[in-house]
Amino acid sequence: MMKIPMSSPDLTDTDRQAVIDVINTPNLSMGGRILDFEQTFCDRTGLKHAIGVNSGTAGLHLCVRAAGIGLGDLVITTPFSFVSSSNVLLFENAVPAFVDIDPRTGNIDPELVADAARNTEKYLPRKSKIANSEWQAIIPVDVFGQPADMDPINAVAKEHGLTVIEDSCEALGAEYKGKPAGTLGDYGVFAFYPNKQITTGEGGMVVTDDDGAADFMRSLRNQGRAVGDTWLQHTFLGYNYRLDEMSAALGMAQMCRLDALLTKREQVAAWYEARLSEIPGVEVPIVEAYTTRMSWFVYVVRFDARIDRDALAKRLEEKDVPARPYFLPIHLQPYMA
Ligand SMILES: Cc1ncc(COP(=O)(O)O)c(C=O)c1O
Repeated sequence: MMKIPMSSPDLTDTDRQAVIDVINTPNLSMGGRILDFEQTFCDRTGLKHAIGVNSGTAGLHLCVRAAGIGLGDLVITTPFSFVSSSNVLLFENAVPAFVDIDPRTGNIDPELVADAARNTEKYLPRKSKIANSEWQAIIPVDVFGQPADMDPINAVAKEHGLTVIEDSCEALGAEYKGKPAGTLGDYGVFAFYPNKQITTGEGGMVVTDDDGAADFMRSLRNQGRAVGDTWLQHTFLGYNYRLDEMSAALGMAQMCRLDALLTKREQVAAWYEARLSEIPGVEVPIVEAYTTRMSWFVYVVRFDARIDRDALAKRLEEKDVPARPYFLPIHLQPYMA
């Protein structure tokens, strides 16, 4: 019987050759491939700046630094996400305050974002000793490839003067009311781990229209060397978040096929929907009307109480069809609890 992989990258000979071509040159880091890869993101998103980094987490962290989020700063975010979207706040001793999600989509509930913005005390993490009294930012996450409902979130941000960092690590190619995911806040971040829509092995990309922030993030990515610094001069406290040339070349080759890759995923999602939606007790994903393009990352179904999720996953595993619970919410993770 055929073994169904949990997830495997879609690589062609052209993709592989792109990596080999780089290895045959002496420029393995900070060459022309990353510039080309970044340009594809500017072209695709219509934004002025794209900054390639070596993970989605690194990209989110740079956005947190660029937004000036620091000690005790309060940020409204979602607990139903991969841990990175909150971890990057903890890296800076900022305070993630969780609001609940819309059960239809799994994305942060914009009404609760508005409520939190008005009623800080109600949403303060109980055990935080360092929380400031005012909100600084919102980090919505485009969960499973579906954009968060960004218009009302941006309206709250505007009213309260908050920065919006859109975590689009799972949503490359998705569209919200015809606009690309990742372009809807002040900063957007994509990720390219091998289970993602495109892969670079490890990698990520920040997009923004803010010139100053883009310069700052490029500096932080490269050990804090500011524009004009020499190789051993470091104006800022930075990191090594650089994306190497092999990864950038692979990413570039994959980006040329992004629409084809998304179409393949759409086809698979349609097969799942056709078959699973007929089974009583199984709820298939809901694609909202504002999601003008879904970028299928994972296909997550929910069961009613009659179905034992874990027993079912075990039976699927026995049939070589792996399935996983997705996600354990961040506030329940041991280190966060
Ligand atoms: C929602 C979300 N945010 C952030 C990340 C972090 O990306 P990376 O694994 O490239 O650091 C991921 C990736 O798994 C993700 O799914």
